[in-house]
Amino acid sequence: MNIKLDGVKITWLGHATFRIETPGGKTILIDPWVMGNPMCPDDQKTFEKIDVMLCTHGHGDHIGDAVALARKHNPVVVGIYELCMWMQKKGAKQISPMNKGGTQTVGDIRVTMVHADHSCGIEDDGQIIYGGEACGYVIQFENNLKIYHAGDTNVFGDMSIIHDLYAPDVAMIPIGDHYTMGPREASYACRLLRPKAIIPMHFGTFPLLTGTPAQFTKLVSEMGVEVIHTEPGKTLT
Ligand code: NI
Ligand code: MN
Repeated sequence: MNIKLDGVKITWLGHATFRIETPGGKTILIDPWVMGNPMCPDDQKTFEKIDVMLCTHGHGDHIGDAVALARKHNPVVVGIYELCMWMQKKGAKQISPMNKGGTQTVGDIRVTMVHADHSCGIEDDGQIIYGGEACGYVIQFENNLKIYHAGDTNVFGDMSIIHDLYAPDVAMIPIGDHYTMGPREASYACRLLRPKAIIPMHFGTFPLLTGTPAQFTKLVSEMGVEVIHTEPGKTLT
């Protein structure tokens, strides 16, 4: 890996779920889905602590364990307003709702909520509840490293604004197709975002998600971006 994380530790837990340790020792969990996540190794499904939980949208493959983990570890739960209100109703004690374009300090990170083009209904007891809108996040660490987690999305032109305003170093973007962009759209996203490195996500979890890192890597081979091929449970440092 060429990109320097400077003390930030990133562990992909499969699908869109990431555990990140900050240089200051905080644990951030993005899109908590571990128990039913077929990609997540068994020994990674539990946590010593969670300081901050970031939720991109209300689909079960992103917030499947959000309520249980929020009750157990009492993290600050960051999400779009409606999703946070639902989390609070379900027992999350510390919520910090926000909306697109906003930035807040949580723990020792700066979090900006950015656009994603996707739906956001929450399945709750057989009903689908309005969960606000799907989003992505740009996280800035105390060492100035910037990470963009796209959530579930197609490619959209305003990814160039995310580049212009935040210039993320590392981008986690979905490549699996069907419910999100596949390799072709993801390679176009890479052209707009111009990160130093990309961690492909949201692929291979189910047979429907057919996009592969190999297809994606081939499409971005001329762009001078590093594609990080990691495995669920492996920590990048
Ligand atoms: Ni989704
Ligand atoms: Mn999804």
